[in-house]
Amino acid sequence: MRHLLEIDDLTAIELREVLALASEPISAHPLEGKGAALLFEKPSARTRNSMELAVVQLGGHPLTIRPDEVGLDTRETVEDVIRTLCCYHALIGARVFQHSMLERAVAVSSVPIVNMLSDQGHPLQGLADVLTLADEFGGADALAGRTIAYVGDGNNVARSLALAAGMLGMSVRVASPEGFELSDSDTDRIRAAGVELLCTQDPVAACVGADAVYTDVWTSMGQEAETALRLQAFSGFTVTEDLMAVTAPDSVFLHCLPAHRGEEVTHDVLESDRSRVWPQAENRMHAARGAMRWLLEQR
Ligand code: CP
Ligand code: NVA
Repeated sequence: MRHLLEIDDLTAIELREVLALASEPISAHPLEGKGAALLFEKPSARTRNSMELAVVQLGGHPLTIRPDEVGLDTRETVEDVIRTLCCYHALIGARVFQHSMLERAVAVSSVPIVNMLSDQGHPLQGLADVLTLADEFGGADALAGRTIAYVGDGNNVARSLALAAGMLGMSVRVASPEGFELSDSDTDRIRAAGVELLCTQDPVAACVGADAVYTDVWTSMGQEAETALRLQAFSGFTVTEDLMAVTAPDSVFLHCLPAHRGEEVTHDVLESDRSRVWPQAENRMHAARGAMRWLLEQR
């Protein structure tokens, strides 16, 4: 049985298989008559909706569970919650604060576990991101040799994006302020997946000639106490029209959303002709369907 906690749980070939399934018209219903439990420790608009709809498209019944309903490690242990859910469901998705919760889930689960965002990674987002780039630039096989620049916090979204884009042969540049870079273990892991990765503190250097520019919020869910500090630290890292002007002529702008206009990106860039944020949001559903179908076919 396979799980999806991070993009590099897949090989580069398997990543392409997932993307191919995501792009196929809906033809298989591997969740017919079955349930999928979706546990959320944090808020969500895109992930909950896209996962619920993808489960329905695969013939299944999605059951969203909010934190107060099961009490992960408060009402009972994560392990006991997961073992209980395995009695009813064919797949479990979880959005958690601590990635270790997912690893504990995997250790006791008899069904595939899908990371719906942790402090470490956001693989379903990474899949939707590369699906969007593939739609834009002529397919997943046409991405090799192109460049993506991520400007902002070296966070969960950055790590999954770097793995997904890089494993398809894209050159990845990440520009972050000092103290907010991808960790050394992240860069080691990304490079171990064969990714060509450049880390810099200069957003312009990252964006020169890039085919795509990506950003995410400066303060992730759970980091709210650091908001003021981060606003200061990320000054100069806003994706503006001026920054987009140094990119390739046909470049696109991506953002996982939710966006904070005027912080990590200007309103004008987000609403510009280069912005692909709505197809990207729709692709969350196709990516989720492709990922779940692939996982269920491995069993
Ligand atoms: N991009 C994303 O994961 O959005 P939500 O937090 O709304 O699910
Ligand atoms: N980095 C953000 C992504 C939200 C989809 C967070 O973790 O809150």
